[in-house]
Amino acid sequence: MSKKHLIVKKLDGTNLQDVMNLQDRIIANLSDDEQHFILHRTEKDYMKSLNGTSSNMLGVFDGSELIAQIIYGLPKNGETRDMPEFKSNIPNNELVIFEAILVDPAYRGSSLMKRMLEHIEQNAIDDNRTHSIIQIAIDNPASWINALHHGMKITKVDRDPTDGVKVIYLEKKISKTTQNTTLIQDNIKTYNMYLGDNIHKKIPSLFLKMQHLIQKGYKGVTLDKETKSLIWHKSEEPKTTFFDFNKLYTNNFQKTGTL
Ligand SMILES: CC(C)(COP(=O)(O)OP(=O)(O)OC[C@H]1O[C@@H](n2cnc3c(N)ncnc32)[C@H](O)[C@@H]1OP(=O)(O)O)[C@@H](O)C(=O)NCCC(=O)NCCS
Repeated sequence: MSKKHLIVKKLDGTNLQDVMNLQDRIIANLSDDEQHFILHRTEKDYMKSLNGTSSNMLGVFDGSELIAQIIYGLPKNGETRDMPEFKSNIPNNELVIFEAILVDPAYRGSSLMKRMLEHIEQNAIDDNRTHSIIQIAIDNPASWINALHHGMKITKVDRDPTDGVKVIYLEKKISKTTQNTTLIQDNIKTYNMYLGDNIHKKIPSLFLKMQHLIQKGYKGVTLDKETKSLIWHKSEEPKTTFFDFNKLYTNNFQKTGTL
């Protein structure tokens, strides 16, 4: 394992065995109660992405060994896409859908997930895509922390419509104009959701709280290590005070009886 000469490559049918081997290594590394972190895909499932046009695969190689992989969807308008329950208002041809992200346990800690997302988005922007989206099991913080680090925001928390697993949905605007631009807003309301030292234990119990915050207009934006909290932001309209002069006149009149 060198970790020095990692090469990123779009995968195709010739990589099927590499892809299956990496998935096997990841599955073997997950405990029983973590198996739902990823869909266990068959060769047939993977071939749809390896030979696909709307669904694609990217891989990272160390020499000839595949050490990280991701499926990403670039759906076309008019076709049925994955994750239809999220951002259904956005046309297919503006979306990038991230799925099945796997990093070999021996190569974790170098933010390879984040680097793969960045690589895909850079190309997707050139294809006029404007939004990237992802769905992650709520009890898989290793994955959603990376998505937050990547600038994605939590805007939906629900049960997966197919298997009922509690999941977090994140999204990010990726259009050219918003790249490298920091929007300074002074009308942001912040909520600190305390997670403590054991995020894994704490997070699932916050499912309803997260849903409540989202209903109130908050988005999960970052993890603050200092306060051990997940930070939520809500943009507020600038406050304007309206004077109802008619009411003022009436009240005045009623109070004094004369004018
Ligand atoms: C999710 C995954 C792809 C991330 O791998 P990676 O890119 O190597 O991520 P890193 O190990 O570099 O972690 C980066 C961040 O996540 C945090 N993190 C990693 N593992 C974590 C864990 N088990 N619990 C909490 N946070 C964790 C790290 O602390 C780090 O954050 P920091 O920079 O603020 O310290 C990898 O863990 C994996 O393959 N998991 C199994 C399969 C899976 O769950 N895939 C996602 C399906 S959507």
